[in-house]
Amino acid sequence: MEVIIKSNADEVSREAAAIFRRQLREKTDSVLGLATGSTPVGLYDRLVMMARAGEIDLSHTTTFNLDEYVGLSSSHPQSYAAFMRRHLFDRVSVARWHIPDGKARDIPRLCADYEEAILEAGGIDLQLLGLGSDGHIGFNEPGSSLGSRTRLKTLTARTVADNARYFASPGEVPRHVVTMGVGTIFDARHCLVLAFGEGKAGAVAAMVEGPVTAMVPASVLQMHPVCTLIVDEAAASGLERRDYYRWVYENKPAWQRA
Ligand code: F6R
Repeated sequence: MEVIIKSNADEVSREAAAIFRRQLREKTDSVLGLATGSTPVGLYDRLVMMARAGEIDLSHTTTFNLDEYVGLSSSHPQSYAAFMRRHLFDRVSVARWHIPDGKARDIPRLCADYEEAILEAGGIDLQLLGLGSDGHIGFNEPGSSLGSRTRLKTLTARTVADNARYFASPGEVPRHVVTMGVGTIFDARHCLVLAFGEGKAGAVAAMVEGPVTAMVPASVLQMHPVCTLIVDEAAASGLERRDYYRWVYENKPAWQRA
């Protein structure tokens, strides 16, 4: 896993945007895995700016979002479909986007179809991920099978509390989501994880330097062949080997840089 430490959240988004730019230059019709939450907002703003400036072209890409709340229709302002329209899809055009339907009647069928659609698109080239303060990726909470596929999950009380800031009251936060599984995420050719702030420091340390365990689903990415983690100083503060990660980045060969 490559660990990149940047001075602040804005620098993290800038570095992540450079990775997207490289990906799109290598493959204009890339299949992109996308995330919601507060973490990717700065990156999406940058991608929109770059697309408008003609630096990148997203119009041939196919996207798959990680997850959606069960019970919220795509028009609900707190649904992840509405989030993605607000932050990206209403601002730039992509060829096709996919988000699980939170109102689907047959959830197992929806999940199987989502997996099938990813396969039919040729698999995910670049998967963007935020990190839960409990170490989740997608909504694979601690204890999730490291081989899991897209399915229904029940959020932990901690994630419900973390996400309550987007709803009028904690009671309105849905308890269930459909999420890509850890195994689905692991199949992406490149996983790109972003994390900012002190609140993520424990999860970042456990993900990078702790044991690989289902209790910290993100730790499975230690075994991924191409995983990049970009964090700000605060999120890096629990990493014991942060000086080494800085050293590696400073000495990175030019051809490896985004
Ligand atoms: C969102 C997702 C979640 C978030 C994570 C961090 O699609 O899958 O794993 O990335 O909960 O959320 P924020 O970015 O709000 O801290």
